Amino acid sequence: MLLSSLICATLIFGAESRFIEPKPKPSRNPVVPGVVFDRFITIWLENINFASASSDPNFAALTKQGIQLTNYFAVTHPSEPNYVASVGGDYFGMNNDNLHRIPANISSIVDLLEEKGISWGEYQEDMPETGFQGFQQLAPSGANDYVRKHNPLIIFDSVANFSSRADKIKNFTLFEQDLAENKIPQWSFITPNMTNDGHDTNITFASTWARGFLEPLLKNPHFNGEKTLILLTFDENGSSDPHNRVDSVLLGTAVPRELIGTQDTAFYTHYSEIATVEANWGLHTLGRFDVGANVFSLVAKHTRDVIRKLDVNQAFLNISYPGPFNTAPSGNYAVPNTKLTVNGRRVLPKVVETWGSAHLQRCALYDGALLPPSGLNPPVIPEGC
Ligand SMILES: *[C@@H]1O[C@H](CO)[C@@H](O)[C@H](O)[C@H]1NC(C)=O
Ligand SMILES: *[C@@H]1O[C@H](CO)[C@@H](O)[C@H](O)[C@H]1NC(C)=O
Ligand SMILES: *[C@@H]1O[C@H](CO)[C@@H](O)[C@H](O)[C@H]1NC(C)=O
Ligand SMILES: *[C@@H]1O[C@H](CO)[C@@H](O)[C@H](O)[C@H]1NC(C)=O
Ligand SMILES: *[C@@H]1O[C@H](CO)[C@@H](O)[C@H](O)[C@H]1NC(C)=O
Ligand SMILES: *[C@@H]1O[C@H](CO)[C@@H](O)[C@H](O)[C@H]1NC(C)=O
Ligand SMILES: *[C@@H]1O[C@H](CO)[C@@H](O)[C@H](O)[C@H]1NC(C)=O
Repeated sequence: MLLSSLICATLIFGAESRFIEPKPKPSRNPVVPGVVFDRFITIWLENINFASASSDPNFAALTKQGIQLTNYFAVTHPSEPNYVASVGGDYFGMNNDNLHRIPANISSIVDLLEEKGISWGEYQEDMPETGFQGFQQLAPSGANDYVRKHNPLIIFDSVANFSSRADKIKNFTLFEQDLAENKIPQWSFITPNMTNDGHDTNITFASTWARGFLEPLLKNPHFNGEKTLILLTFDENGSSDPHNRVDSVLLGTAVPRELIGTQDTAFYTHYSEIATVEANWGLHTLGRFDVGANVFSLVAKHTRDVIRKLDVNQAFLNISYPGPFNTAPSGNYAVPNTKLTVNGRRVLPKVVETWGSAHLQRCALYDGALLPPSGLNPPVIPEGC
């Protein structure tokens, strides 16, 4: 009796392990609670200097409803490396907007979120179909509409090559549908088209769009439900700012009432976006520039992450350091530092498995510094790496 039930259990177990393919945790999971927010939504506009954005009346009207981050910096030029950095913790030397594919052995924020069962998605305006991998989509008039360079996660083969992941990269038609069905994921990246985001227009146009898009959504519980944090930012400066400072605003129900209309002067970069999400949900890290970045103080205060200080006059994040995606390619994909920890957060086990051998770790270049490198201050790569 005992023996036969053991055999039976073994057979069932055997059948399961043979026929059920591994899947990420189901997206119908209950909401995974975070320390300060249960939902994070970021919306990216294009190419505007801090001064032009902060003096624009519509942008100022949005800013008054949240926290203005007055020392938030893009990490290089042009667009694509900034988008990539915000989800991957590095841009691998990219200094152009070419059609890149980041190899599948390089992890992104998606691996960190899925490990904890946190739902995620992107909404890319005018992308012609879900999971589209093409370079661009023009409007019938010939105007720019959708561009791959503003779609950070499709650039990672660790996302694009798996339909269960690529299917989470949708357009605004499906945004409207997900919104109506209360299915906006817990982590979302939103990219308006090249007219609305200011790329082919200007701050007046982009801020009018942003206000028209966001103000109704701020009142919609399917978007700005309980404990929602929204980051509205720009990919890079607009003209002649060697520091590459951009105006950024935190909005949503996760912003405490007493902080509405205030400024946060701490030093942040696009890497702070990942660091904040990691701290809020107690995620693993990527072992890249995400580890050293400051966590937004409204979260750091509760997670006890230390906000480090920096003389922002020393930050010139205006040119890319070398690497495989540079127009003059050099070197290999940077090796994450699998031994880094920050406030108890360790590097994702899968990253350690891929990159943690002593042979590769000799080449790790990340040291947890607060100021990421730039072309003026490139990372020191050990001989033979
Ligand atoms: C991902 O897809 C690209 C394009 O089809 C291919 O070149 C690459 O080898 C794929 N990577 C993996 C790990 O399958
Ligand atoms: C990652 O993939 C790239 C491209 O296929 C390859 O050149 C590199 O050796 C791989 N690195 C590791 C650590 O797997
Ligand atoms: C949005 O994506 C869906 C699904 O792929 C597609 O059917 C629809 O035509 C797309 N909408 C636009 C405006 O491109
Ligand atoms: C951009 O999106 C708006 C709607 O948000 C649409 O009216 C416009 O046609 C789209 N494309 C261009 C090139 O403006
Ligand atoms: C901003 O862009 C819009 C749309 O292209 C244009 O109509 C308007 O004249 C521009 N405003 C300025 C100040 O350039
Ligand atoms: C980057 O900043 C340095 C230091 O101020 C400056 O010399 C250089 O011209 C800047 N480069 C660009 C492209 O802005
Ligand atoms: C931002 O400013 C720098 C000068 O430091 C300039 O080279 C760059 O083209 C500007 N970015 C954009 C998108 O205009």
